[in-house]
Amino acid sequence: MTALIDLRSDTVTLPSPEMRRAMADAELGDDVYGEDPTVNRLQDLAAEMLGKEAGLFVTSGTMGNLVSLLAHAPRGTKVILGDEAHIFRYEQGGAAVVGGLVYQTIPTNPYGDLPIERLRQAVQRRDDAHEAAPGVLCLENTHNRCGGTVLSLDYIRQARQIAVEQDVPLHLDGARLPNAAVALGVSLREVAAPFDSVQVDLSKGLAAPVGGVVVGSREFIKQAHRARKLLGGGMRQAGVIAAAGIIALEQMVERLAEDHQHARILAGGLAELPDVVLDLGTVQTNLIVFRLNPDRWSPSRFITAMREQGVLLGGSGYNQLRFATHYGITRADIERTLLACKNVLAPRY
Ligand SMILES: Cc1ncc(COP(=O)(O)O)c(C=O)c1O
Repeated sequence: MTALIDLRSDTVTLPSPEMRRAMADAELGDDVYGEDPTVNRLQDLAAEMLGKEAGLFVTSGTMGNLVSLLAHAPRGTKVILGDEAHIFRYEQGGAAVVGGLVYQTIPTNPYGDLPIERLRQAVQRRDDAHEAAPGVLCLENTHNRCGGTVLSLDYIRQARQIAVEQDVPLHLDGARLPNAAVALGVSLREVAAPFDSVQVDLSKGLAAPVGGVVVGSREFIKQAHRARKLLGGGMRQAGVIAAAGIIALEQMVERLAEDHQHARILAGGLAELPDVVLDLGTVQTNLIVFRLNPDRWSPSRFITAMREQGVLLGGSGYNQLRFATHYGITRADIERTLLACKNVLAPRY
């Protein structure tokens, strides 16, 4: 039997042979004492590549975001972010639970940006005892629920200016920042530059098995490091997994262009099939978020029918479906997936 083609998420990626070798050979120490040379090397490399003073290895994107919010925002202040942000929707309200922070959401535009005027109003510091003060402003790039869309550098600079005017730190949920940089044709550093802090996942498109990094100023990382310990994220010989993260940053960024090309091919074919509602303008990186005519399809019926054809995909809220291309998916897999979509949606042709 042929193997299933797993397009549910780019988190299903398995480590490359180079990663496995690096993990086996990694020099190790106790990272809670700051003595794991491989973790230190990963943190320095991430800081260097993202153009910040210091870095911190974290267990996951969720932890990277939470330690960043805790480090920036005093208790009782506001986390200002989009209503479709991963931090708001899928991270259990961690900043409220652990940090006593309040979420203020702004409606998200279809391509993942937040209307600049709404953003300006939300971060404004007012001398009003009724209101929670702004604590941190967050953007997401690429934007998961909007379909892997990329924020333009011009938009990010406008958001930066507002944050600076109001003296509010600007955080980036850059779980897929490498995809944004590759799509824009610029360095990671350029996409990260306007932000005070950035979290980047190593275990999505970059294919490391575990973890992410947070980068920012030395002082910010000191606070994030304290928050990481609070959350139980002080790991010991973590160089075993950090070793794969080094390979991820050194070797796996540029190949994301291939995932983006696969996504464009798959999306182009999918959009021509009956009952598919897909804005091809959203297909800018490795995610394809689409809907099906609800009179004829429920997402779960489509997922089941595709599974019978040997292809896995996922749901993405509000009746949306999602394919994610990634390391380990070949051009032939994309062709097989398109054929499966045709068999399910247009069996007569
Ligand atoms: C935009 C975004 N931020 C954060 C995360 C959280 O990452 P993790 O699953 O590593 O906690 C994800 C995961 O899908 C994501 O898509």
